[in-house]
Amino acid sequence: MYGGGYIFDEQSKRPLQTQLEDDPVKLADFERRIAAGEKIEPGDWMPVDYRKQLIRLIEQHAHSEIIGALPEGTWITRAPGFKRKLALIAKVQDEIGHGQLLYNAAETLGKSREMMINDLLNGKSKYSNVFNYPAETWADVTVIGFLIDAAAIVNQVANSKGSYGPYCRALERICYEESFHLKQGHDAFIELATGTALQRSMVQDALNRWWQPIMHFFGPPDKTSVHSEKLMRWKVKMASNDDMRNQFLDSYVPKILELGLTLPDPGLRKDPETGKWLFSDPDWDLFMKVINGGGPCNSERLGVRKWAEENGRWVRKALMDNNQKKSFPVA
Ligand code: COA
Repeated sequence: MYGGGYIFDEQSKRPLQTQLEDDPVKLADFERRIAAGEKIEPGDWMPVDYRKQLIRLIEQHAHSEIIGALPEGTWITRAPGFKRKLALIAKVQDEIGHGQLLYNAAETLGKSREMMINDLLNGKSKYSNVFNYPAETWADVTVIGFLIDAAAIVNQVANSKGSYGPYCRALERICYEESFHLKQGHDAFIELATGTALQRSMVQDALNRWWQPIMHFFGPPDKTSVHSEKLMRWKVKMASNDDMRNQFLDSYVPKILELGLTLPDPGLRKDPETGKWLFSDPDWDLFMKVINGGGPCNSERLGVRKWAEENGRWVRKALMDNNQKKSFPVA
């Protein structure tokens, strides 16, 4: 049994029961710790729903990292020039490492890696909408490297100040590496935006394609967000979806416009009175479709992961067998 009343079957390691009544005294102490800005650690008591929410969110984040490596991974052999190839290989490798860090953080909450991967492959667990679109040209890769990494950093820097120790520590390390990714993405983006007419039109086209998925990236508007209220009260999410979207627009719209590019939203402008960005509502029905398996690349992305899972089974087995041989029997 783990700290927050999560009970496991010893053999299958599957949770048998996810809800025992939260003890009101322990709950009050937990809420006091959160209010005081303390970090919650794996062995500490935590409400069952805090644990469930963290598993959901960190698991989705981990899946996003490993699925997110796929659209860029397909460009490694086609990246223009040796230096761009090297940077892209390093970046894709980092993203897989981020997946590892996040799966480790989620495992501290009691869900096994195997169960998380199963839930990704059977479609039970989501991953970020943006990775269900194709990277059609090299310009798409520069938009991903610049703007999607920027969007991820806005989210992750905020949440790294949150309440669950293992997730925050993983995010701190991830943000450090993501800032390097952002620099290489920005550099490649500028190269195209200040290049030939063809390069400029390629990057403009890519920007037009990716703008709506990027607006979707921060999640539904606060008024329809299902989990925000609770996650913000428990300091798992340190900014609301709308606030993160606004922060992104504040930092990156000027950087795009100063390169003479345009954004495909005639309604986009900053309200001088509130200081907040106004924009046309992105298509939220499309968002729901994409995050529920109906985007242009969902089945391709999961297909690759399923292939990797099946074809890598013998490697995992060999490693496990080898580990078992090395360990001494306990008397
Ligand atoms: N892609 C896929 N699904 C998304 C999404 C996105 N960009 N934004 C929201 N959703 C899903 C949520 O997971 C939730 O679905 P669920 O109840 O089936 O789990 C649903 O839409 C409702 O959204 P909301 O109530 O706003 O979810 P949330 O409070 O968890 O906020 C995030 C959504 C993405 C902001 C939040 O989960 C988060 O900060 N995650 C960690 C960072 C991350 O995963 N980044 C992606 C890759 S770098």
